[in-house]
Amino acid sequence: MPAPDAIPEHELSTGARPEGITSEQAAATNIQQMFDAIAPTYDRANHILTFGLDRWLWNRTARAFRKTLQRPEAVVLDLCCGTGDMTLALLKHRPESAQNRVPGIEAPQNPKAIPSPATQSSGAPSMTVSSSWMGRNPADSPDVPAPILAVDFSHQMLSRGAEKFAPHNIVPIEADALHLPIADNSIDLITSAFGFRNLSNYEAGLAELHRVLRPGGQIGILDFNQPTGLTGALYNFYFKQILPRFGGLISGDPAAYTYLPESVARFPSPTRMIELITQAGFTNATWTSYTFGTAGLYRATKPETM
Ligand SMILES: C[S@@+](CC[C@H](N)C(=O)[O-])C[C@H]1O[C@@H](n2cnc3c(N)ncnc32)[C@H](O)[C@@H]1O
Repeated sequence: MPAPDAIPEHELSTGARPEGITSEQAAATNIQQMFDAIAPTYDRANHILTFGLDRWLWNRTARAFRKTLQRPEAVVLDLCCGTGDMTLALLKHRPESAQNRVPGIEAPQNPKAIPSPATQSSGAPSMTVSSSWMGRNPADSPDVPAPILAVDFSHQMLSRGAEKFAPHNIVPIEADALHLPIADNSIDLITSAFGFRNLSNYEAGLAELHRVLRPGGQIGILDFNQPTGLTGALYNFYFKQILPRFGGLISGDPAAYTYLPESVARFPSPTRMIELITQAGFTNATWTSYTFGTAGLYRATKPETM
């Protein structure tokens, strides 16, 4: 058994912790404020710093779930949607009838804040979001194509997403991924691109995904990974030396781009993530390496019978 200080952080971490922050609640607040602060430059910084690979990664992830996306009644949730580009990549695979806003089913133009978990009544979260669709039982009107639900807790990030979503059948929801205002067993597919790593409690995040997913539903978590060998050395040089400087210059917020490589280093390795996903009750958990192992897609299914 190695001494505790020899165990790498990604084997022990229970959730994101920006530098100097020890509690779960403080981490969530810090991360929310950080994304609010970088929201105006987020898209530009992302495209420049990933050399445009971000689009390729979103599109590849969306393609992996084409079969589910093609079903007009399938309810899709894009968690930690930020400024919405992953959500729009998913939309491209929806049938045409499900792509545009459905008349009579109004999604809010601007995301509406929901009460924080502390002020919500106890028990299972209810549909507290201002959208007539959210109160609708899809079984009552199966012919109405379901929208994509796009969730984020940063108002500034989501507002930018909401502008992009306006003509489309996408409902922005300002909410915490650990306390979703969504009924149990109601979602067919949950994706999250570069967001899950930022949750302050990974086990609680997976439990929440499991709760809202229908039996047979799937998750797709796209996130960075810390590669090894030569790729790892190049990656570390770029992520630790170059990216924080350029990210800081573009956004005016160097701390956010120092947090990025630190959060990747702390994020559970694929082997441990698969263990956590399996422990949360999912089956068939897999990880597919993208871009030479610098990113990858976790997929898993909620079993039909429990
Ligand atoms: C790196 S951005 C990714 C945005 C988008 N998915 C993309 O691929 O560009 C991470 C997003 O996760 C959101 N986020 C982090 N923790 C969250 C939480 N607990 N609940 C909801 N959103 C969260 C942040 O606000 C931020 O918009």
